[in-house]
Amino acid sequence: MARRWRPGWRAAAATLACLALTACGEKRGTPPVSSTTPLRTLAARRGIAIGAPTGSTFQRTDAAGDSLRAILAREFDMVWSGNWLKFSVVHPAPTTYDFSWADSMVAFAQAHQMTVRGHTFVWHNQIPSWLTGGSWTPAQVDSILAGHIATLMAHFKGKIRIWDVVNEAVDDNAQRRTTFWSTALGPGYIERAFRLARAADSTALLFYNDYNIEGTSAKADTVYALLADLKSRGVPVDGVGMQGHFIVGQLPSGASLAANFARFAALGLKIEITELDIRMSVPATAADLAVQALDYRTIVGACLQTPACDAVELSAVYDGDSWVPGTFPGQGAANLFDESFHPKPAYTALSNLLSGK
Ligand code: XIL
Repeated sequence: MARRWRPGWRAAAATLACLALTACGEKRGTPPVSSTTPLRTLAARRGIAIGAPTGSTFQRTDAAGDSLRAILAREFDMVWSGNWLKFSVVHPAPTTYDFSWADSMVAFAQAHQMTVRGHTFVWHNQIPSWLTGGSWTPAQVDSILAGHIATLMAHFKGKIRIWDVVNEAVDDNAQRRTTFWSTALGPGYIERAFRLARAADSTALLFYNDYNIEGTSAKADTVYALLADLKSRGVPVDGVGMQGHFIVGQLPSGASLAANFARFAALGLKIEITELDIRMSVPATAADLAVQALDYRTIVGACLQTPACDAVELSAVYDGDSWVPGTFPGQGAANLFDESFHPKPAYTALSNLLSGK
């Protein structure tokens, strides 16, 4: 796939980035990471895509918005939809769909030659109260799900080619999670969602996505068994997304990652790291940032060593627009760029890894 810069874009992005940074005063014209080859260029040479969400900063008209957009376009060749295609955001009332956020993300992606990953049809979180609070028959919930999937996939046909069809169907005890969907539709809801998605768009890549399944573990075993069963019965699952929400210094070993990736690949599945972040106590110490850099190398290295692994997506571009501090109090600094959009040691580590250093 050609991933080329449009003539003049790099200079424009550099100017944008600089104008957006107060620290750029004396160095006007210099983007934060101008001396390095963009990650997307390096990743493409290694045969993988590198992605990030547009996030909430994307829509801002201030300097932070300019910086975010410049970094996104320069460094990444893939975006994923973050919150913008979750059920409660995109389908806020029974007959209302709001594609405004996702449409602007797709337009940006097209302008900058980026592929797009859609997230997510079936999840237990961020589903609207009109759905969870209703008293529906199973047939009605099935019909709502079918309409939801068909409407989204039709709207983005040819624009979003990769979808997280089912997200986090296994709980932290390695059991199938009891959710609105499983309660309403029974255990067959996962198969049903994949079959509905295939019927809605025969060319899209359909993923199961979950966290804490990167290395070998009880939860990874359960997800492996689930996907092995679906594949054995011809259910259209094309890939497994491993979210990659890690704590600094606590990644599975390289051997554990490699063994786990290999067994999923042997099912004929693509593998993507879908929401990578490596959090730490804040304020961050130099020591933790150095370990984080090694950790980013470990997980992305495991992807590079697995032919079936074709993409790594980050959960946020920068520490100023991350879900981590709100969900894990006292934790943060989980991303490649800091709150001022400066690249951290993890950025350099990834750049070096992708460069073969
Ligand atoms: C998070 C978002 O980043 C937050 O903004 C939101 O409030 C909650 O969800 N697993 C997923 C993501 O699949 O969609 C979640 O994103 C993080 C965990």
